[in-house]
Amino acid sequence: MDVRIYQTAAEIGEAAGEVFVQQILDKPDCVLGLATGVTPIPMYTYIGNQCNAGRVSLKKVTTFNLDEYCNLPVTHRESYYAFMHRNLFDHTDILEENVHLLNGNADDFDAECEAYEKAMAAAGGVDLQLLGIGTNGHIGFNEPSDEFSDGPFKVKLTESTITSNKIYFDTEDEMPRYALTMGIGDIMRAKKIVFIATGEGKAKAVYDMIEGPVSPKCPASILQNHKDVIVFLDKGAAKLLK
Ligand code: PGA
Repeated sequence: MDVRIYQTAAEIGEAAGEVFVQQILDKPDCVLGLATGVTPIPMYTYIGNQCNAGRVSLKKVTTFNLDEYCNLPVTHRESYYAFMHRNLFDHTDILEENVHLLNGNADDFDAECEAYEKAMAAAGGVDLQLLGIGTNGHIGFNEPSDEFSDGPFKVKLTESTITSNKIYFDTEDEMPRYALTMGIGDIMRAKKIVFIATGEGKAKAVYDMIEGPVSPKCPASILQNHKDVIVFLDKGAAKLLK
């Protein structure tokens, strides 16, 4: 893993955003795997600004998001569909038909996951995948478990994830307990990965990911087996690294 440590989240946003801009300049019809959460917001702001400045166009880009809550209307501000539009898509020239998120309101979740896997393969696979990490080591919503997953699936969120994310909802009951997520196999099939973590709250998960054993108990540790991962950390997130 290529680990790079920065002073501020804003600097990471620019540096990681530049990897995405270069990817799009190199291959205008590339396939991007995208993530939600607080961490990538500065990077999305940077990409939106580069697009508005006319430096890069997302007109031919296709995107697949990592995950989406189950049974939360996409019109809800905390749906990942709404998040992505608010923080990135609405500030670019991307075409809505090229945007893909798992449908957490599908009647048949298995069929939805199968269709998503097929759509990713039909698009030629993900060229560049963005990842954050949960304090419990999750990537996407692949929670700590006894085995690594492969394709997309429905997951029961852990207490740790519910505790981290419920603060964004008006009431604790509103926070979904289930989600659809790309599997670890999907993430590992991406040709290149950009990973971002900021803040001391992520230090233990980042340590386990980079210096711990490869284990589904820390799903992010699988990235040790990927050939092309750039890890962007601030001082807080890098605090426990040797
Ligand atoms: P965060 O979420 O960026 O809001 O910390 C990261 C994650 O849970 O993957």
